[in-house]
Amino acid sequence: MEPIPMRKPLIAGNWKMNLDRHAAIVLANAIAEAAEKIGNVEIAICPPFVYLDVVRQALGNSVVALGAQNMSPEPSGAFTGEISAGMLKDVGCKYVILGHSERRHLLGETDAFINTKVHAAIAAGLLPVVCVGELLADREAGKTAAVVGAQLEGSCAGLSPEQMAEVVMAYEPVWAIGTGKVASPEQAEEVHLALRKMISDRYNSQTAERVRIQYGGSVKPSNAAELLSQPNIDGALVGGASLRAEDFLGIVAGVK
Ligand code: PGA
Repeated sequence: MEPIPMRKPLIAGNWKMNLDRHAAIVLANAIAEAAEKIGNVEIAICPPFVYLDVVRQALGNSVVALGAQNMSPEPSGAFTGEISAGMLKDVGCKYVILGHSERRHLLGETDAFINTKVHAAIAAGLLPVVCVGELLADREAGKTAAVVGAQLEGSCAGLSPEQMAEVVMAYEPVWAIGTGKVASPEQAEEVHLALRKMISDRYNSQTAERVRIQYGGSVKPSNAAELLSQPNIDGALVGGASLRAEDFLGIVAGVK
């Protein structure tokens, strides 16, 4: 049997609907320059669709990977306003964030719909970053594991063990996103461990050991190192703090 490779942490910046063209280029340049000296962690940035191409150019042949924030499950056709997986590949994306809680809760995306996107992304050669996370009410009702388990199950239904191993999961408690309230390292680790166990039960332990599970929700330079030192936390999905190079790189530096 092949040895299981170490999980390389992935720090990804989710720029959401922020910045303009100039600011996107400046930020990408700053991250690309700093990334040259960083080897122990993979870095990705996820700009708005309209800036993907200029950010790709700004990155040049940097090791920083490009990701998108969403995509259509459809390959092409009459879907006004939508962007396909093939288009994202064409502009140089490696990753695509799917099932972010803002899309689940503001736009009503379901696990079944997210699942169609996960399959389309993989078919096009993109690596999906699949987001799961509970509401505060779920946590208070003791339902965290059940909620994230159902999201994992639904969003990743029908994947082979090989496909599942390539998926990046992002555990993002909804109550911690953009609120300044961060899950404690122990709270986060508990859920990450539970997710890995669910993947192991559903597939096998080798697959579970390969899946990278990021934490997301108010990650900052001041709390990153402690979160990232947990054994089952394999990186971070960063919103607000990814918009300033200094903050984002401070989080990257939290990977030991
Ligand atoms: P935040 O967002 O870091 O601003 O809390 C995280 C996310 O939504 O991915």
